[in-house]
Amino acid sequence: MTSTGREHGREMTRREMLRRFLALGLALPGGTALLAACAGGQQPTPTTAAPTQPPAGQASPTAPTTGQAEDKLEIFSWWTNPGEADGLKALFDLFSQRRPGVEIINATVAGGAGTNAKAVLVTRMQGGNPPDSFQVHAGQELIGTWVVAGKMEPINDLFEQEGWNKVMPKTLLDQISHEGKFYSVPVNIHRSNMLWYNKRIFEANNLQPPKTVDEFYQVAEKLKSAGVTPLSVGGKDKFEVPHLFESVLLAVFGPEDYPKLFGDPGMWESDARIQEAIDMLDQFLSYANEDRAALSWADAAQRVIDGSAAMTIMGDWAYGYFINKGAQPGQVFGWVPAPGTDGSFLWLSDSFGLPVGAPHRNNAIEWLKVCGSREGQDAFNPKKGSIPARTDADKSKYDEYLRYSIERFAQDKLAPSVVHGAAANEAYMTAYNNALNVFSASRDKDQLKGMLIEAAKEL
Ligand code: GAL
Repeated sequence: MTSTGREHGREMTRREMLRRFLALGLALPGGTALLAACAGGQQPTPTTAAPTQPPAGQASPTAPTTGQAEDKLEIFSWWTNPGEADGLKALFDLFSQRRPGVEIINATVAGGAGTNAKAVLVTRMQGGNPPDSFQVHAGQELIGTWVVAGKMEPINDLFEQEGWNKVMPKTLLDQISHEGKFYSVPVNIHRSNMLWYNKRIFEANNLQPPKTVDEFYQVAEKLKSAGVTPLSVGGKDKFEVPHLFESVLLAVFGPEDYPKLFGDPGMWESDARIQEAIDMLDQFLSYANEDRAALSWADAAQRVIDGSAAMTIMGDWAYGYFINKGAQPGQVFGWVPAPGTDGSFLWLSDSFGLPVGAPHRNNAIEWLKVCGSREGQDAFNPKKGSIPARTDADKSKYDEYLRYSIERFAQDKLAPSVVHGAAANEAYMTAYNNALNVFSASRDKDQLKGMLIEAAKEL
């Protein structure tokens, strides 16, 4: 068998790669023709126009585009919500200081976790119309989707020049590397397994934030009897219930065994703890609002600070959202790790890379320098609700929650997020998300188990 990629310590065969690329509508490295069909069916429209310039030819990693007037920079992301959009703007402002004459095209496609944006990106990459740089999660979302397909330029020279490999944790560097080369610049680290709660509601009902799953059930029961929606859950962006389930999986399996789920597909069928996790999710949802499909993660978070629900389990981009809304941390809202996951940090990282054929390659490189700089990270992360990917950040710029998170990341057991690209390939993520979104409406536990076993075939 020809081995073409390595994943979770096992070789990925050419056949497996082909299946994945077919699922994504991408071409295999080394020649197979691009496919017309794109995964995901109907495509949302980007909020800004595609660049007017035709894409440049395939740029060699060592030969920067020169002599070409570069008056634009197009950055593609899904950061449209309060908090995340503020962080992005902070990076744009820094870029503009460095390249004042350059027009920034903020190509966003709304939808948390990039479920919509990623489908649009596939179409653009397939059509030879890449943005200059795009948001991509460190891990398999970067490596399995784009790097092994030959769609990204290695950026080792930049890493060397900027010294990034000396100031970023190895766990993270491993997730952006393939065959000894670096392929993106991590701008942050987010924590997925966080519970945010309304302080006033907890105080009024004489409750403590729940640490364990049993405590969560007790608190939820009391809130329910008091007429308060215990748990606020979204569903409109098609990642919110899958997101909740990864915290549940972590609570059930623990940080040692949770990662094994994405390396040993058989566990989804044979391990009895899967049923336990499904039952737990079902019980969590019994304390949640019914109108999930109409709410984005941000709408669900809003309910916590406006007091119409008591808790939400969401990544710490919710923190960026709360700050933007002027909610005082520690007064209006508080935080604890998701029930049963204290001591574990379910992590993910947003990064930006250099697509092959970036139309404004020199500007893209300058953008990456901003993303990787200490100044850039310290401007972006306090607004975004994430901690810097660099370990030499100026901690005085980070407030109480973020200082806590920096400390937890250094001390906790780390586990990779599946919904946000770190743990598994895109085809698996799509199937896993689909299973959980179907369950959010149907609450059919047997069907969920079957769909999760089916999804595991993509691992
Ligand atoms: C995550 C992403 C975060 C945040 C969130 C909600 O996937 O890593 O930066 O944007 O989605 O949109």
